[in-house]
Amino acid sequence: MIQKRSVAIIGTGNVGVAAAYALFNQRIASEIILVDLNRERAEGEAMDLMHGQLLVGNVKVRAGSYEDLKDTQVVVVTAGVGQKSPDESRLELLNRNAAVYNDIISKLDEYAPNAILIIATNPVDILTYVSQKLSAREPQRIIGTGTLLDTARFRALLGRYYDVDPRSVHAYILGEHGDSEVPIWSQANIGGQPIQHNTVLGKPYNKEALDKLFEESKNAAYEIIKRKGFTNSAIGVVIARIVEGILEDEKSVIPVSAYWDGAYGINDVCMSLQSVVGIEGVKHRVLPDLDQEEIQGLRQSAEILQSSLKKIDI
Ligand code: 2OP
Repeated sequence: MIQKRSVAIIGTGNVGVAAAYALFNQRIASEIILVDLNRERAEGEAMDLMHGQLLVGNVKVRAGSYEDLKDTQVVVVTAGVGQKSPDESRLELLNRNAAVYNDIISKLDEYAPNAILIIATNPVDILTYVSQKLSAREPQRIIGTGTLLDTARFRALLGRYYDVDPRSVHAYILGEHGDSEVPIWSQANIGGQPIQHNTVLGKPYNKEALDKLFEESKNAAYEIIKRKGFTNSAIGVVIARIVEGILEDEKSVIPVSAYWDGAYGINDVCMSLQSVVGIEGVKHRVLPDLDQEEIQGLRQSAEILQSSLKKIDI
């Protein structure tokens, strides 16, 4: 029998619904279970998606509860509150969302102990770490969406700047998904040609212009929140991409948040690094030769996250 590709989404707010829509529309899952404290809301979202089934294909979406998750391979956690205003940083959400996670992770350990968890709530690196501490599952099975979103924004902007397909831009943002994130210029290239110090596609190297593109990617969420009040569309496709990597056991290299165990001298924190994502979660991480400034930036990200972690009781 062909196995179901079953994905659950905890929280049907703006991010949960965008993730469900991306998973549905791209037919990455064959079953999507929506779980929300507000059951009616989850039912409404499931009904709405199911009315598109004729046009999308055989994906089943339904509202459910934790008890329905025993065959689920991946659970995406989007529950919690988002930034209330453009002035609130992701780290400021910490205490409000850590409490919500206590309850969710214990239920997931009871009803879906074998699923891989994808954490999407902010501050995502902290909540990934908290989830790893709270859960009995192996840490490699709990992944945060991390800087895949920032990396996607960065490549979109670089693609526009160089007038080239963002998929041909190989550039990463690593570290915290937030204000201390680090652009990896030393490795950034377009079709194999390094960007740093080079004329690429007829454009001479312009450090100031490129730094501005990084700032624009880093501050994108604040700018979007200023205009529409929240961000959800790009994170929806980011989640779908990570789910796909897991369900297809792709072993794709994706910058996601996972446990740091000595890379670049950094320990005991979760943040993003290029990670090999497959059916067992993140088994391996890739360690390119970064320059000193980049390594320093990652260490600073780790210190910032660790000092926030000290403020919560887990
Ligand atoms: C984002 O970067 C708010 O973390 C969310 O869109």
